[in-house]
Amino acid sequence: MSFWTGKQIVIGIGGGIAAYKSLEIIRRLREAGALVVPVPTPAGLRFVTELTLQSLAGGPVHGELMQPRQPGEMDHIRLAREADLVIIAPATADLMARMASGQADDLLTALLLARRGPTLAAPAMNPAMWSHPATQRNVARLREDGLLVIGPESGAMACGESGEGRMAEPAAILEAARRALTPPILAGRRFLITAGPTREELDPVRFLTNHSSGKMGWETALAALRAGAEVDLVHGPVALPPPPGARLLPVTTAEEMRAAALEAWQQRECDAAILTAAVADYRPAQRQPDKIKKEHEEPEMHLTLTQNPDILAELSARANGNQVVCGFAAETGNALERGREKLVRKGCDLLAINDVTAPGCGFGSETNIVTLIGRDGWEESWPLLPKEAVAERLIRAIHALLGQRHPT
Ligand code: PMT
Repeated sequence: MSFWTGKQIVIGIGGGIAAYKSLEIIRRLREAGALVVPVPTPAGLRFVTELTLQSLAGGPVHGELMQPRQPGEMDHIRLAREADLVIIAPATADLMARMASGQADDLLTALLLARRGPTLAAPAMNPAMWSHPATQRNVARLREDGLLVIGPESGAMACGESGEGRMAEPAAILEAARRALTPPILAGRRFLITAGPTREELDPVRFLTNHSSGKMGWETALAALRAGAEVDLVHGPVALPPPPGARLLPVTTAEEMRAAALEAWQQRECDAAILTAAVADYRPAQRQPDKIKKEHEEPEMHLTLTQNPDILAELSARANGNQVVCGFAAETGNALERGREKLVRKGCDLLAINDVTAPGCGFGSETNIVTLIGRDGWEESWPLLPKEAVAERLIRAIHALLGQRHPT
C-alpha cells in the first residue's frame, strides 16, 4: 500500500501547452493507487483529448458544468467535497484570474469556488504573462485565500522564449501534493541529516569509500520535509535528485562532513540530528599529490590509515538536553548486541540498527529492516519495509521524543 492508495485526487487542467505534463501526473498517481478524476476546462480539452484522459485515469472525464454524469447530481459540489486534494496543472493566467475573482463559469472554476480542502496550483505561462502585475496580484490573492502554489520554474518555454513561467515538473508537483496532505507535525523544527558515503583520497585517482547510495538519508530528509521541518542535508557523493526544499551541503571527506554537520548543529540551532551517512572510519594518513606508481618488484603494498573523527559522538556530546540525536548502526552479525554497545559508546539518544548482510537490508536497497533502540532500554523492531516507511516511523519516533523534551 502506498501513500496514495485510495486517495481521490481531482486534476484540473487549464488550456496551456503544459497540459501534456498533467498526463504524466495522472499516470503516476494511478500507478500509486490513487483515484484520479480529470476536470479539464474547455480550453484544456483543446490540448489533451477526453479519450487520452479517460484512458489514463481509468474513469470518466468531468468537463461540463451543465451536463452532470448522473441526472440530478451536482458534479462541482460533489467533486469539491469528496476530493482529498485538487491539483490544478497547468494553472494558466486566465484560469487564475477567474479563480481570483471568484468566477464559476465552467465546471473547474465552479468546483474550485465550492472547494474548502487543500488545493495546489502549478502555474504555467509565458514569462511576460507571469510577471505582469495582474497575474502577480491574482496569485498573491489566491495564496491569501489558501491556495498552495508550486513553481513556475525558469527555463525554455514552448513559445521559444526563456524565463520564469515553465510549469514545475510532475515529480515536483507530486512531492508538493504529498506535503499538502501530510500533517505538519514538525513545523517550526529544524533537522540535520547526514547521508551517503564519504570518500577518502589516496592520490588524485584513487579513494577509499563504501556502498552507501544515500537512499536512506534521502528518504529521511523527505519524510522530515513532508512533516514540515526545515532540513539541512549534509551528504557525500550520491546520484540522487535533491529533495525539494532541503538545504544541501555537499561534502566529500569525513572531515568535511564533520565540519558541515557541526556548523549546522551549533549555528543553526537544530532540534534533531539523524546521521544515516556511512562515514569512513579511517582515511589515508597521507594523500599523495601524484598518482602512486605500481612497483613491479613489490607484490604487496601497505597503506597507513588514520582514524577519522566520530561525528555522531561529537554531536551527542554537544547536544543541549532538548536536542535529539539519532545514529544508524550498520552491523554484520550480532546486530542488536553491537548496536546497544554502540549507543552507549557514542552517547546518542536513539540508534537505528540495520544488519546490512540481511536480504533487502542496508546499502543500495529500496527496503530496510531496522530495530530502533533508545537510551533507557526502549526498543522497537520493524519488519522489512520500504526505506520511505522506515523514514516515516523514525520521524514519528523523534517527533514523540522532541515533544517530551521541548514542546513547540
Ligand atoms: O545509503 P544507503 O545505500 O541507503 O544505505 C543505508 C545505510 C546502510 C548506509 C544506513 O542504513 C546505515 O546503516 N548508516 C550508517 C552507516 C555507518 O557508518 O554505520 P556505523 O555503524 O559505522 O556508524 C554508526 C553511526 O556513527 C552512524 O550514524 C554514522 O553516521 C556515525 N559515524 C560513523 C563513523 C564516523 N567517523 N563518524 C560518524 O558519525
